Amino acid sequence: MISLAQICTWATTLRTVFIDNREYLTELDSAIGDADHGINMARGFTAVATALEDDVPGDIGAALKIISMTLIKNVGGASGPLYGTFFLKASLPCMGRDAIGVDDLVLLVREGVKGIRQRGKAVPGDKTMVDAWEPALAAMTDARSRGGDIEAVLIAAARAAAEGRDATIPMLARKGRASYLGERSRGHQDPGATSTALILATARDTLV
Ligand SMILES: Nc1ncnc2c1ncn2[C@@H]1O[C@H](COP(=O)(O)OP(=O)(O)OP(=O)(O)O)[C@@H](O)[C@H]1O
Ligand SMILES: [Mg+2]
Repeated sequence: MISLAQICTWATTLRTVFIDNREYLTELDSAIGDADHGINMARGFTAVATALEDDVPGDIGAALKIISMTLIKNVGGASGPLYGTFFLKASLPCMGRDAIGVDDLVLLVREGVKGIRQRGKAVPGDKTMVDAWEPALAAMTDARSRGGDIEAVLIAAARAAAEGRDATIPMLARKGRASYLGERSRGHQDPGATSTALILATARDTLV
């Protein structure tokens, strides 16, 4: 089972992860965007960690909702509302729960990814965070169908997200600011797919 404390540790660890990766993400975003993704994510998850410390949530749904609202308020840009939507949709099946199992974990990611796709209208291959989320969800579903436990499912998710991140390099951007570059967007790794891979690698490291 995944506890409320582990969900909070995932979120607070992301503060450190995004501070450590701030320059890297901003460098990626300077090639095909406006050089703010690292700054946005570090600011967002610093606010998330503070919010969880100030207002200790009573259950996992409440924790995910605080993460969502704080990201929407503090991240801005395209990625703020998208990550905010992920955590908001993910919170719904977890309301009132102080622990969740492997099937709940797969369900919350499925709901979250559905939210990102509804909100941003990106499809796989558009060179966005969807190119990390979709393969991660598929790998989680597959690992679970073969009897995988929380650890197996999270290992599969982190690996597939990293592969999805790498696969964005040759893609032509069709969404967001990067799409203005047309063919010149090829040959660069998508910043949002990179932050998604970090979120899932951190989930693997903190939720098992
Ligand atoms: N419609 C979309 N659907 C899914 N992801 C998207 C979409 N638009 C942008 N993104 C993701 O957001 C990332 C950029 O996030 P950032 O925090 O830099 O916001 P931004 O500068 O406003 O974004 P952008 O320049 O792409 O409009 C991209 O790398 C991409 O992964
Ligand atoms: Mg940007």
